[in-house]
Amino acid sequence: FVYPLLATVAAYLIGSLSFAVLVSRLMGLNDPRTYGSKNPGATNVLRSGSKAAAIVTLLLDAFKGWLPVVVVMGWGAAWGLGDGTVALVGLAAFLGHLYPVFFRFQGGKGVATAAGVILGFNPWLGLAALATWVIIAFFFRYSSLASIVTALFAPAYYLFGNHVAWDAPGVMVLSLAVMGILLVWRHAENINRLLAGKESKLGAKKT
Ligand code: G3P
Repeated sequence: FVYPLLATVAAYLIGSLSFAVLVSRLMGLNDPRTYGSKNPGATNVLRSGSKAAAIVTLLLDAFKGWLPVVVVMGWGAAWGLGDGTVALVGLAAFLGHLYPVFFRFQGGKGVATAAGVILGFNPWLGLAALATWVIIAFFFRYSSLASIVTALFAPAYYLFGNHVAWDAPGVMVLSLAVMGILLVWRHAENINRLLAGKESKLGAKKT
Protein backbone atom coordinates (compact mmCIF):
# COMPACT_ATOMS: atom_id res chain seq x y z
CA PHE A 1 0.00 0.00 0.00
CA VAL A 2 3.05 2.28 -0.08
CA TYR A 3 2.58 3.60 -3.63
CA PRO A 4 -1.16 4.33 -3.26
CA LEU A 5 -0.37 6.13 -0.01
CA LEU A 6 2.45 8.17 -1.57
CA ALA A 7 0.24 9.08 -4.55
CA THR A 8 -2.60 10.13 -2.23
CA VAL A 9 -0.35 12.29 -0.05
CA ALA A 10 1.19 13.91 -3.16
CA ALA A 11 -2.29 14.66 -4.54
CA TYR A 12 -3.35 16.15 -1.20
CA LEU A 13 -0.26 18.42 -1.16
CA ILE A 14 -0.90 19.62 -4.73
CA GLY A 15 -4.55 20.20 -3.84
CA SER A 16 -3.42 22.27 -0.86
CA LEU A 17 -2.01 24.95 -3.17
CA SER A 18 -4.72 27.57 -2.81
CA PHE A 19 -4.32 29.29 -6.16
CA ALA A 20 -6.85 32.03 -5.38
CA VAL A 21 -4.50 33.24 -2.65
CA LEU A 22 -1.26 32.57 -4.56
CA VAL A 23 -2.38 34.13 -7.87
CA SER A 24 -3.83 37.19 -6.09
CA ARG A 25 -0.57 37.62 -4.21
CA LEU A 26 1.52 37.32 -7.39
CA MET A 27 -0.73 39.75 -9.26
CA GLY A 28 -0.66 42.31 -6.44
CA LEU A 29 -4.37 41.97 -5.65
CA ASN A 30 -6.03 41.84 -2.24
CA ASP A 31 -6.25 38.50 -0.46
CA PRO A 32 -9.61 36.93 -1.52
CA ARG A 33 -10.12 35.81 2.08
CA THR A 34 -10.63 39.47 3.04
CA TYR A 35 -13.46 40.55 0.70
CA GLY A 36 -16.71 39.35 -0.89
CA SER A 37 -17.65 35.88 0.27
CA LYS A 38 -14.13 35.60 1.76
CA ASN A 39 -13.80 32.32 -0.14
CA PRO A 40 -10.43 31.52 -1.74
CA GLY A 41 -11.90 30.58 -5.12
CA ALA A 42 -12.16 31.86 -8.69
CA THR A 43 -15.69 33.26 -8.22
CA ASN A 44 -14.55 35.45 -5.36
CA VAL A 45 -11.33 36.50 -7.11
CA LEU A 46 -13.60 37.74 -9.93
CA ARG A 47 -15.15 40.15 -7.39
CA SER A 48 -11.73 41.85 -7.14
CA GLY A 49 -12.46 43.11 -10.66
CA SER A 50 -9.63 41.13 -12.29
CA LYS A 51 -11.06 38.68 -14.81
CA ALA A 52 -7.54 37.53 -15.68
CA ALA A 53 -6.78 36.60 -12.06
CA ALA A 54 -10.12 34.76 -11.80
CA ILE A 55 -9.48 32.77 -14.98
CA VAL A 56 -5.91 31.86 -13.97
CA THR A 57 -7.21 30.78 -10.54
CA LEU A 58 -9.95 28.70 -12.13
CA LEU A 59 -7.54 26.98 -14.52
CA LEU A 60 -4.87 26.25 -11.90
CA ASP A 61 -7.38 25.03 -9.29
CA ALA A 62 -8.87 22.73 -11.93
CA PHE A 63 -5.42 21.62 -13.13
CA LYS A 64 -4.40 20.49 -9.63
CA GLY A 65 -7.42 18.15 -9.56
CA TRP A 66 -6.91 16.87 -13.10
CA LEU A 67 -3.15 16.23 -12.87
CA PRO A 68 -3.00 13.51 -10.16
CA VAL A 69 -5.93 11.67 -11.74
CA VAL A 70 -4.43 11.51 -15.25
CA VAL A 71 -0.93 10.72 -13.95
CA VAL A 72 -2.21 7.72 -11.96
CA MET A 73 -4.52 6.66 -14.81
CA GLY A 74 -1.75 6.93 -17.40
CA TRP A 75 1.29 5.62 -15.54
CA GLY A 76 -0.07 4.09 -12.33
CA ALA A 77 -0.35 0.54 -13.68
CA ALA A 78 3.44 0.22 -13.73
CA TRP A 79 3.37 0.87 -9.97
CA GLY A 80 0.44 -1.42 -9.31
CA LEU A 81 -2.00 1.50 -8.98
CA GLY A 82 -5.56 0.83 -10.16
CA ASP A 83 -8.98 2.47 -10.20
CA GLY A 84 -9.07 2.64 -6.39
CA THR A 85 -6.00 4.89 -6.36
CA VAL A 86 -7.37 7.01 -9.22
CA ALA A 87 -10.54 7.60 -7.18
CA LEU A 88 -8.48 8.26 -4.05
CA VAL A 89 -6.05 10.79 -5.58
CA GLY A 90 -8.97 12.75 -7.06
CA LEU A 91 -10.62 12.90 -3.66
CA ALA A 92 -7.29 13.78 -2.00
CA ALA A 93 -6.65 16.75 -4.32
CA PHE A 94 -10.22 17.95 -3.67
CA LEU A 95 -9.76 17.59 0.11
CA GLY A 96 -6.45 19.46 -0.16
CA HIS A 97 -8.33 22.37 -1.71
CA LEU A 98 -10.95 22.33 1.07
CA TYR A 99 -8.46 21.79 3.91
CA PRO A 100 -5.06 23.02 2.68
CA VAL A 101 -2.13 22.11 4.89
CA PHE A 102 -0.29 25.26 3.68
CA PHE A 103 -3.14 27.63 4.62
CA ARG A 104 -4.11 26.55 8.13
CA PHE A 105 -6.68 24.16 6.65
CA GLN A 106 -8.86 27.12 5.61
CA GLY A 107 -9.60 26.37 1.97
CA GLY A 108 -12.27 26.83 -0.64
CA LYS A 109 -15.42 25.09 -1.79
CA GLY A 110 -13.82 22.76 -4.32
CA VAL A 111 -15.78 23.60 -7.47
CA ALA A 112 -12.86 24.13 -9.89
CA THR A 113 -10.85 21.29 -8.38
CA ALA A 114 -13.78 18.87 -8.60
CA ALA A 115 -14.23 19.92 -12.24
CA GLY A 116 -10.58 19.02 -12.91
CA VAL A 117 -10.97 15.66 -11.17
CA ILE A 118 -14.11 14.86 -13.16
CA LEU A 119 -12.42 15.83 -16.46
CA GLY A 120 -9.62 13.44 -15.50
CA PHE A 121 -12.01 10.62 -14.61
CA ASN A 122 -13.78 10.94 -17.91
CA PRO A 123 -13.60 13.89 -20.37
CA TRP A 124 -17.22 13.36 -21.51
CA LEU A 125 -18.44 13.39 -17.95
CA GLY A 126 -16.36 16.52 -17.36
CA LEU A 127 -17.87 18.22 -20.41
CA ALA A 128 -21.40 17.26 -19.30
CA ALA A 129 -20.68 18.78 -15.87
CA LEU A 130 -19.15 21.94 -17.38
CA ALA A 131 -22.15 22.34 -19.70
CA THR A 132 -24.51 21.99 -16.72
CA TRP A 133 -22.59 24.65 -14.81
CA VAL A 134 -22.52 27.06 -17.77
CA ILE A 135 -26.26 26.66 -18.51
CA ILE A 136 -27.33 27.28 -14.88
CA ALA A 137 -24.86 30.16 -14.48
CA PHE A 138 -26.01 31.71 -17.76
CA PHE A 139 -29.72 31.65 -16.87
CA PHE A 140 -29.56 32.35 -13.14
CA ARG A 141 -26.27 34.33 -12.83
CA TYR A 142 -25.33 32.60 -9.58
CA SER A 143 -22.00 30.77 -9.52
CA SER A 144 -22.93 28.97 -6.30
CA LEU A 145 -26.28 27.71 -7.62
CA ALA A 146 -24.60 26.43 -10.78
CA SER A 147 -21.98 24.63 -8.67
CA ILE A 148 -24.53 23.03 -6.34
CA VAL A 149 -26.77 21.80 -9.16
CA THR A 150 -23.76 20.42 -11.07
CA ALA A 151 -22.50 18.61 -7.96
CA LEU A 152 -25.87 16.90 -7.61
CA PHE A 153 -25.98 15.92 -11.28
CA ALA A 154 -22.39 14.66 -11.75
CA PRO A 155 -22.68 11.30 -9.96
CA ALA A 156 -25.99 10.74 -11.78
CA TYR A 157 -24.30 11.44 -15.14
CA TYR A 158 -21.63 8.95 -14.24
CA LEU A 159 -24.16 6.26 -13.35
CA PHE A 160 -26.26 7.07 -16.40
CA GLY A 161 -23.29 6.90 -18.77
CA ASN A 162 -22.14 3.64 -17.26
CA HIS A 163 -22.36 0.73 -19.74
CA VAL A 164 -23.56 3.20 -22.38
CA ALA A 165 -20.57 5.43 -23.01
CA TRP A 166 -17.98 4.06 -20.59
CA ASP A 167 -17.49 1.57 -17.81
CA ALA A 168 -17.72 3.47 -14.54
CA PRO A 169 -15.84 1.82 -11.70
CA GLY A 170 -17.83 1.93 -8.43
CA VAL A 171 -14.97 3.56 -6.54
CA MET A 172 -15.05 6.57 -8.85
CA VAL A 173 -18.80 6.96 -8.45
CA LEU A 174 -18.25 6.84 -4.69
CA SER A 175 -15.47 9.44 -4.93
CA LEU A 176 -17.77 11.70 -6.99
CA ALA A 177 -20.62 11.28 -4.51
CA VAL A 178 -18.37 12.16 -1.55
CA MET A 179 -17.05 15.21 -3.40
CA GLY A 180 -20.61 16.24 -4.28
CA ILE A 181 -21.81 15.99 -0.68
CA LEU A 182 -18.82 17.94 0.68
CA LEU A 183 -19.14 20.55 -2.07
CA VAL A 184 -22.81 21.19 -1.29
CA TRP A 185 -22.06 21.27 2.45
CA ARG A 186 -19.32 23.89 1.86
CA HIS A 187 -21.99 26.02 0.15
CA ALA A 188 -24.19 26.19 3.28
CA GLU A 189 -23.79 29.98 3.54
CA ASN A 190 -24.46 30.38 -0.19
CA ILE A 191 -27.64 28.28 0.14
CA ASN A 192 -28.85 30.52 2.98
CA ARG A 193 -28.07 33.63 0.92
CA LEU A 194 -29.81 32.16 -2.16
CA LEU A 195 -32.92 31.37 -0.11
CA ALA A 196 -32.87 34.87 1.38
CA GLY A 197 -32.36 36.43 -2.08
CA LYS A 198 -29.05 37.92 -0.94
CA GLU A 199 -26.55 35.94 -2.98
CA SER A 200 -24.32 38.12 -5.16
CA LYS A 201 -24.71 37.60 -8.88
CA LEU A 202 -21.87 36.72 -11.22
CA GLY A 203 -20.08 39.84 -12.37
CA ALA A 204 -21.11 41.90 -9.33
CA LYS A 205 -18.11 43.42 -7.58
CA LYS A 206 -17.89 43.45 -3.83
CA THR A 207 -15.05 44.83 -1.73
O1 G3P B 1 -16.53 28.48 -6.41
C1 G3P B 1 -17.39 28.60 -5.36
C2 G3P B 1 -18.69 29.19 -5.84
O2 G3P B 1 -19.61 28.16 -6.10
C3 G3P B 1 -19.26 30.15 -4.86
O3 G3P B 1 -18.27 31.07 -4.51
O4 G3P B 1 -17.40 33.16 -3.56
O5 G3P B 1 -19.79 33.03 -4.27
O6 G3P B 1 -19.04 31.80 -2.25
P1 G3P B 1 -18.65 32.33 -3.59
